[in-house]
Amino acid sequence: MKVTVVGAGAVGASCAEYIAIKDFASEVVLLDIKEGYAEGKAMDLMQTASLNGFDTKITGITNDYSKTANSDICVITSGIPRKPGMTREELIGINAGIVKAVSSSLIEHSPNTILIVVSNPMDTMTYLAHKSTNLPKNKIIGMGGALDSARFKYRLAEALGAPISDVDGMVIGGHSDTGMVPLTSHATRNSIKVSEFLSDDRLNQVKEDTKVGGATLTKLLGTSAWYAPGAAVSALVQAIACDQKKMFPCSTFLEGEYGLNDICIGVPVILGRNGIESIVDIPLSDAEKAHMQSSAEGVRKTNGLLEL
Ligand code: 2OP
Repeated sequence: MKVTVVGAGAVGASCAEYIAIKDFASEVVLLDIKEGYAEGKAMDLMQTASLNGFDTKITGITNDYSKTANSDICVITSGIPRKPGMTREELIGINAGIVKAVSSSLIEHSPNTILIVVSNPMDTMTYLAHKSTNLPKNKIIGMGGALDSARFKYRLAEALGAPISDVDGMVIGGHSDTGMVPLTSHATRNSIKVSEFLSDDRLNQVKEDTKVGGATLTKLLGTSAWYAPGAAVSALVQAIACDQKKMFPCSTFLEGEYGLNDICIGVPVILGRNGIESIVDIPLSDAEKAHMQSSAEGVRKTNGLLEL
């Protein structure tokens, strides 16, 4: 199993690190445009192998896509991250050009790869990958919902005073501060609906804190977060590589599901060796349905800025 991660910045490097630590891939190629940078990160990570007990080989490459040839999975993290006060949507100008060029170079050398898009604005970048490459839709996956759901579970556990392993929940919709739809109606603590333990007000607070999860970190760190994004990507890569058939909310091209067409947005999917093996249609409350529709409008507005 060969995995390429483009972008050796904080998100790309932690993604490579988490993939390696889980030890399911034979090779991770880390590629960056900055001379020597990916090589340095790869070498530093390889020097953790004996300490962390993994055999995955991590190779760093400066911009030579021929070295990514025959990758089973390619992850695109490249582009500029947001700064405090910026929305993910404001990154579109620079990141669209980068994502288009990177996906075409990757596919030239790995025509059968599965592509995971992380660069922001993620749903629009996933849509761009869909429109600008000839990969089938099951092989183009946007990473947002897995991260947003992890942040939702963190906030739920905090509100419940419970360990995170007691909590389950999902966030669908667009990966943006207004677009995220935390599914409080489905969230549970050991199979009991969280609404049994938390007041409407507290649940609303959890929802709001989840939606600004990335922005809160950007404000604290001065740049975009990386540990949870990297871990979320590695969970998707593992589900595909190990054919786990696990369910994650991911941005995928919709053709009628959730009443939406010609858009990439976060919905629950099953991930396995073929990438997105199916889209799971789940019942939503009226409020969640309305939120999903307005989320889609927001994503469409950003898609409208693309030069396709
Ligand atoms: C986030 O931290 C990377 O979009 C990303 O939410």
